[in-house]
Amino acid sequence: MSLKKISKKQPDTFEFSKENLHEVEKEIKKYPKNKKASAVLSLLYLVQKQNHNWIPLAAIKYVARLLDMPYIKVYEVATFYSMLNLTPVGKYFVQVCTTTPCMIRGAQKIIDVCKKNISENQNELSENKLCSWVEVECLGACVNAPMIQINQDYFEDLDGNKTTEIIHNLLNDKFPKPGSAKNRKNSAPENGKTSLLEEKNAQGQ
Ligand code: FES
Repeated sequence: MSLKKISKKQPDTFEFSKENLHEVEKEIKKYPKNKKASAVLSLLYLVQKQNHNWIPLAAIKYVARLLDMPYIKVYEVATFYSMLNLTPVGKYFVQVCTTTPCMIRGAQKIIDVCKKNISENQNELSENKLCSWVEVECLGACVNAPMIQINQDYFEDLDGNKTTEIIHNLLNDKFPKPGSAKNRKNSAPENGKTSLLEEKNAQGQ
């Protein structure tokens, strides 16, 4: 299960870059003037993009001021969603699905590889600071279980060896090819088609 961790090391301040302030304006304009709090998720996501994939507490206060919201309300949003990180996650952020289908198909082996190669505990950076890992709930690719998400990409049909290879690549600052480790196309059967072998329509014509 994923636990939200808040970094003990925090910067004193945060401000959006000039470019991102334009984005903020655009996001806020999408909503009626008295409803600008609706832009909170977009702004937090923007913070994360600007700040190496994590959100410091100073940024939560900053977003609260921009949107005229109480700090605690922005904090509640930031601590609720698992895609918002409140601690540094490294250049390569590995999310390991440990919900039932992935667990049945060997997610524990993936966890063992992460512990051995990245860090003993989740939410901690690897020694070279390039990687971190965390357990998450179903990522919606159960049919290709077990799987992990690295940054925006999915890696599926994994086993211990394949995961070790992927993690070693990341630790050497190389991004491996995403997709199925068994070269399946999407969720097609592993050993080729077993039904609908001929291209006939429903009437058999
Ligand atoms: S259970 Fe792992 S992707 Fe759904």
